Amino acid sequence: MEQLTQVLATALSEMNDISSIHDLEQFKSRYVGKQGAITAFMQQLKNLAPEERKAFGAEVNQIKSQFEDALNKQREIILTRELNAKLANETIDVSLPGRGMSAGSLHPVTLALKRLTDIFAQLGFSVADGPEIETDYYNFKALNIPDNHPARAMQDTFYTESGNVLRTHTSPIQVRYAETRTPPIKIIAPGRVYRVDMDATHSPMFHQMELLWIEKNISFANLKAIISEFMRKFFEDDNLQVRFRASFFPFTEPSAEVDIFFAKTGKWLEVGGCGMVHPKVLNYMNISADEYTGFAFGFGIDRLAMLRYGVTDLRLMFENDIDFLTQFKGL
Ligand code: FA5
Ligand code: MG
Repeated sequence: MEQLTQVLATALSEMNDISSIHDLEQFKSRYVGKQGAITAFMQQLKNLAPEERKAFGAEVNQIKSQFEDALNKQREIILTRELNAKLANETIDVSLPGRGMSAGSLHPVTLALKRLTDIFAQLGFSVADGPEIETDYYNFKALNIPDNHPARAMQDTFYTESGNVLRTHTSPIQVRYAETRTPPIKIIAPGRVYRVDMDATHSPMFHQMELLWIEKNISFANLKAIISEFMRKFFEDDNLQVRFRASFFPFTEPSAEVDIFFAKTGKWLEVGGCGMVHPKVLNYMNISADEYTGFAFGFGIDRLAMLRYGVTDLRLMFENDIDFLTQFKGL
């Protein structure tokens, strides 16, 4: 019986150090499992004289139930400790300030487009539109670029399987708009255009804006005045230098390319092409070349946005980099 009390004392002191349920269950079977230390006393009963058996049996049972009571208490302690740890881990401090939702900002091309449309609205132009998937007729033929004309190679074109093209410029909108209307015609037409082209100043998808003004007695002087005026307004610089460089487009005659002097880099940069609408194109527009004249201008919106907002690589515009884009907040 002394041994029995000794076993219980050892068990109880060992039990205090157990901190996981798993260890506790293993510990339990070491004492009251089939080969357990307390179970072993039960098995000795059969070796005792009948008069001793009853008292000893009662004693073993008593020890066993003390052991089990202590074990249950320890199990409660462990479970409570585990629960508290879990709760502490999952605590949410509802008094912390929220992370907030940051407001988006307009894309620099959108900002430029808004400025452009405002300026041209003040100059009396309205806005026209056309499809991005265009027929060969509007993108080339009606602009006096017939099949196999070398000018088609000036712009590397994406073709669709059905023989249409992704428009290479906004000029097709000129004919689409004018063929069903009579002058005066005074429109701008912004939109996406596509070319097989890719470097720091060229992107396979970019934005152009077309300008078309057809009326009686429109001359190259009107073209120069409108384009110079618009560039100075856009860059808010009354002294901005604008240069007209003689050039060639099949749909205008005479033709010029428009460069602006970019003081920051000390360089001229081409922003667009322009010219007097070619009589053949007026024909495709069902407009009498004897009665009317007009000019057209097509320029890169992205190029203007780059210059205005100081962006040095055009490709940044289309990478959706949030750090790049948030710089234009509030502009
Ligand atoms: C044209 O596209 C003519 N349709 C412009 C025109 C309209 C001339 C009306 C006469 C009358 P060009 O291919 O040069 O011309 O393109 C015009 C402008 O688009 C260029 O000056 C440039 O600013 C911009 N641009 C051209 N290719 C790219 C490109 N890959 N990425 C970004 N901008 C471009
Ligand atoms: Mg050009």
